[in-house]
Amino acid sequence: MSSLKFIKLSAGGHMPSVGLGTFMLNGNIARETVDKALFLGYKHIDTALSYGNEVEIGEVIKDRENLGKVKRKDIFLTSKVPSVYLERKDLYRSIEQSLDNLKQKYVDLMLIHHPWGLVNRGDGTLRPVDSQGRLEFQQYDLVDSWRGMEDAKADGLVKAIGLSNFTMRQIEKIMSSCKSTPTNLQLECHAYLQQRNIKEFCNQRGITLTAYGPLGAPGRPSHHRSPDQVELLDDPVIEELAKNHNRTKGNILLRWLLQQGFTVVPKCKSEERLKENLNVFDFELSSSDMDKINTLDRNLKYFHFRQYKGHPDFSEEEEF
Ligand SMILES: NC(=O)c1ccc[n+]([C@@H]2O[C@H](COP(=O)([O-])OP(=O)(O)OC[C@H]3O[C@@H](n4cnc5c(N)ncnc54)[C@H](OP(=O)(O)O)[C@@H]3O)[C@@H](O)[C@H]2O)c1
Repeated sequence: MSSLKFIKLSAGGHMPSVGLGTFMLNGNIARETVDKALFLGYKHIDTALSYGNEVEIGEVIKDRENLGKVKRKDIFLTSKVPSVYLERKDLYRSIEQSLDNLKQKYVDLMLIHHPWGLVNRGDGTLRPVDSQGRLEFQQYDLVDSWRGMEDAKADGLVKAIGLSNFTMRQIEKIMSSCKSTPTNLQLECHAYLQQRNIKEFCNQRGITLTAYGPLGAPGRPSHHRSPDQVELLDDPVIEELAKNHNRTKGNILLRWLLQQGFTVVPKCKSEERLKENLNVFDFELSSSDMDKINTLDRNLKYFHFRQYKGHPDFSEEEEF
């Protein structure tokens, strides 16, 4: 299958299949990068309340709108509700907070960032930790959390709602108890973590998939690193395919996901890479190229989230 520039969503509308990831882009760097991305033709921006950059992203979009350089309806904005706001009423307020930060009347897609709830201290703390530095867990009724998402959608705050980092069991539970199906699941996915079971599960249910860490997240924070980890961008098969196609390794990794119907949200700062990551629609991997990459799967999670070990809704054994 050749990749599409837009993915059709079950909630209606279309999602551009390449977006800009903005995790760890903050302050002026966020502003400049998003501005460059919109200038270069990006139409999809992926953020989250916890990334601390919604305000800058909102400012850039408004500035470009005011200058007549962009129309809001042509941009697809995704944000996420953090783990401290999984109580139904808090979830609604979190979405209002994101809209306020972004200076928007609506976002195109709102996701629950993680199913692993944390204590809401009521003071805006998004990462509550105890005196020993351990995260303060709280279990929420995720079906009720989803109803909060449905409330926000019914009131027009969001066009579509989805999940991130949820297991198939957790998604199934929501689907069997609630009116609506999640439109999109955002999950770590790349050639070293191919997520075939979740992909099949979501395909069967009309849930579209967005791959985060599509390049193997080489810039991930230190708590997600271990010394023995191999880096995806160093893989010799990817290097060989890049040479054969006269493309970059990043192009090959993104194209492999796009040809399977994924949406991808690579993050980068430089203009050169912003262009490179968008330049993935004028070549095609053959089925034998695809097969070569398919054999690279090694179930390697770069974002292991081990700090949630012991949380009742977190399990390293279950795929997410
Ligand atoms: N839902 C979730 O829980 C979750 C978790 C993680 C990430 N995400 C989302 O997914 C986005 C992408 O994930 P990610 O940022 O962790 O990983 P990624 O996109 O796989 O990797 C980003 C890193 O790769 C570098 N890079 C970008 N383009 C490149 C290219 N063409 N060749 C070589 N290196 C390149 C970037 O460098 P420079 O920045 O130096 O240019 C950055 O260090 C995030 O920004 C965020 O929006 C969501």
